Amino acid sequence: MPILFHEKSQEFHLYNKDISYIIKILRNGQAGHVYYGKRLADREDFGYLVEYARRDMAPYPFEGESKFSLEHLRQEYPAFGSGDTRYPAFEMEREDGSRVVDFKYKSHRIFGGKKALEGLPATYVESEDEADTLELVLEDELIHTELILSYTIYKDLPVITRNTRFVCEHPEGIALLNCMSGCLDLPDKEYEMTELAGSWIRERHVCSRELAYGIQGVYSMRGCSSHQFNPFLMLKRKNADESRGEAIGFSLVYSGDFLAQVEVDNYDVTRVVLGIHPNEFRWELKAGESFQTPEMVMVYSDQGINGMSQTFHKLYRTRLARGKWRDKERPILINNWEATYFDFNEEKILELAGKAKELGIELFVLDDGWFGKRNLDNCSLGDWYPNLEKLPEGITGLAKKVESLGLKFGLWFEPEMTNKDSDLFRAHPDWLLADLRRNYCHSRNQYVLDFSRPEVVDYIYEQMRKILREAPVSYIKWDMNRAFSEVFSNGRGRSDQGKVRHKYILGVYGLYERLIREFPDILFESCASGGARFDPGMLYYAPQAWTSDNTDAVDRIKIQYGTSYVYPVSSMGSHVSASPNHQVRRSTSLDTRANVAYFGTFGYELDITKLPEEELEAMKKQIAFMKEKRGTIQKGVFYRLKSPFENNSSAWMAVSEDGKEALMAYFRIMEPANGKFERIYLKGLDPAAKYHVQETFGAEMDYGVFGGDELMYAGMSVSDSSSGLAGVAWEQQGDNFSRLFCIRKV
Ligand code: DGJ
Repeated sequence: MPILFHEKSQEFHLYNKDISYIIKILRNGQAGHVYYGKRLADREDFGYLVEYARRDMAPYPFEGESKFSLEHLRQEYPAFGSGDTRYPAFEMEREDGSRVVDFKYKSHRIFGGKKALEGLPATYVESEDEADTLELVLEDELIHTELILSYTIYKDLPVITRNTRFVCEHPEGIALLNCMSGCLDLPDKEYEMTELAGSWIRERHVCSRELAYGIQGVYSMRGCSSHQFNPFLMLKRKNADESRGEAIGFSLVYSGDFLAQVEVDNYDVTRVVLGIHPNEFRWELKAGESFQTPEMVMVYSDQGINGMSQTFHKLYRTRLARGKWRDKERPILINNWEATYFDFNEEKILELAGKAKELGIELFVLDDGWFGKRNLDNCSLGDWYPNLEKLPEGITGLAKKVESLGLKFGLWFEPEMTNKDSDLFRAHPDWLLADLRRNYCHSRNQYVLDFSRPEVVDYIYEQMRKILREAPVSYIKWDMNRAFSEVFSNGRGRSDQGKVRHKYILGVYGLYERLIREFPDILFESCASGGARFDPGMLYYAPQAWTSDNTDAVDRIKIQYGTSYVYPVSSMGSHVSASPNHQVRRSTSLDTRANVAYFGTFGYELDITKLPEEELEAMKKQIAFMKEKRGTIQKGVFYRLKSPFENNSSAWMAVSEDGKEALMAYFRIMEPANGKFERIYLKGLDPAAKYHVQETFGAEMDYGVFGGDELMYAGMSVSDSSSGLAGVAWEQQGDNFSRLFCIRKV
């Protein structure tokens, strides 16, 4: 059993072959944190790792004793007050306004497996022996409230997941004002913090800084996890790099407002908290009611950042994503958005679909503009019935025609939104998530529907379900194109307003759950103006997500590279689009566009009816290539080799699950004048094995056989045609140049 309880020392030791996590019930009954990191052999008592000190100005709970103080003790789930003045893990208020609490150990349960979180996404196990769980029950007797801290340790992954449940039995009830999913107090501050930051069409750029005293972190108060920050943080030792050293990743399985924060106190203790953002949050619990926080996932790596990412990839690809599509290779699709925008009719769609079939594409996705009277972005969201002027035989007729061409059919929805010019809004203006007595902002001419109200969710569900029951829809792109502004739930009382932001996201999850249960064969792709909801919560329902509205290959290198810190390649929607690109007007070769897009779900998003024959021929080859290689790419082990954030060039690779094949992509942004020599050092190969190296497309070259040791330790020269693996002639290079190497074990 990898969770031990030592009665005498009152310590819990959670461990597997890689990691240990140790908790101690402190003298005052609270849960103290002892250790988290590389596996330690068990011992009866790790108490020596709990650091006490006499500090004259600190508050001490035991009279006549000046050592034990919550001011500096590391804790599992700290409250504010009672000596600890750092940022707390939770805050609650009782009926008379007192916020003083005292949660002491009451009992614990240890069991095999992992419980699901009601109404919330979470990682899971497929059998009880994949993980063990400790539930630590703490109680505040005065307010008859229990706090259940739950810890799951996976047997074969360096992963600990946490969540917290509050159970109120206080006759007067309590109000939760803050409830983080978990907290980790680390004994020093010698870390760099990395976050994924950005904005629309510039998502998840890797940003790092040294920890400093005080508070630093990332958050969203936009109603979605956001373009700006991702619910993820990494702390890494300063000497750690992609393949060496310690890195700890913290990720929140949640799609709404979040806080991921690191505080360094004046004794250099580093406190990490992750959870629902407390802004505008207030959850009143009556006796008999409980509140469940989302799940926080902690990944420990002593093999650098790649090590951390690979664990996240495995966990999120196989034990967070669910359903029929979890383990399946993803269909190569064509999406009409950048091909037509709103300007299409059935004839145009069928023309695109026919051409797509000729190229070998498997799925046609009809994007925005098919419903109500939508020809612009200013109307009809919420009116989910086909625009018969554009599509005379509706979605059912069109989908059947697309299927008869030999393609599957996919459809775009934006379920959570409406426009003022819509039947929905005219009938239910009070369904807006806005204070209707005041001015409220539009964004992209649209308004957020109040998904905290079940009747609103039911209404949208019925409309979507009608279409899905009638038409052969195999894929849904679920979009969400604006952030919250003036959040108010009309018709609800004062005490309910603090619940609205969280209930909204529960409404979204609830709708997803109903649809995936009723239509288990549909592949869902989440989207929020590109990547504003690329988070673990969404992956539980939709195994892939539209990575960014930026389809430019060069910008996508950074976006996909940053996204790969946490999220598996199989989750990244990636398309070849037109050149010059529609977001940044950059021109790139078809090869470079495909070489970036291969490392994702892969598809096309441009008007293929207007392309010259040689481009179509090249696309046919790309599609055939991806069909052959997508297993390696989508299920393989992904390695980042060179960062585009620090260099003019970048590289990454995927090694197949069985280790027999690898693909390495190299990208060079600006053509250097009289360039230096450049080598890429491969990873994940068998040093004792031999590999056959070929380069594909731009130049189809066969370089012969090399040792795994040579490719990893001596490196592959990618510089230019006069050295190393020559391949592509100088004349064929230039800015935005890329190469793709296929490496096969012989
Ligand atoms: C934003 C998405 O990210 C795009 O791909 C497209 O679906 C548009 N919305 C449609 O309005």
